[in-house]
Amino acid sequence: MSRLKELRKYVDRELNKITDEDKRNSAFVHLYGVSLAATLIAKKRGLDSELASMAAMMHDLHAYESGSYDDHAHKGAELARTILTELNLTDDKETEIICSAIYHHDDKLVTDSPMDEVLKDADAMHHIMNDLSKPIKEKEQARYKNLCKEFGL
Ligand SMILES: [Fe+2]
Ligand SMILES: [Fe+2]
Repeated sequence: MSRLKELRKYVDRELNKITDEDKRNSAFVHLYGVSLAATLIAKKRGLDSELASMAAMMHDLHAYESGSYDDHAHKGAELARTILTELNLTDDKETEIICSAIYHHDDKLVTDSPMDEVLKDADAMHHIMNDLSKPIKEKEQARYKNLCKEFGL
């Protein structure tokens, strides 16, 4: 089994514990949507799409499990570290790359490492493109403009 598939099995099990059907569905749609977007963006930028996709699969897991978005990026990075240690899917360097992306993913107005930026852009891409009729959050407008330019949209 690929390690992405193994991680998804773990994440699926966690999400299936959410009792509210709408919240559970939204969580699946968002994590898989951001995972696909992260693969696309990483590939376009010549970065490791597997690590990008793995980071995306866990990036909001802490918020879904706890029911709160308070400091969810920082807490989520620690949760991801625990999961990756438990599943033994990554080496230390890969774990750092994934956890850094999750740690920084809510800092949409600043620029961090290239892989951190992949996850931020993938998150913004999914928030926006999952329903183009919705207004775009102010903190994601510049990212969306740059993504449209980068992808020739
Ligand atoms: Fe988030
Ligand atoms: Fe997100």
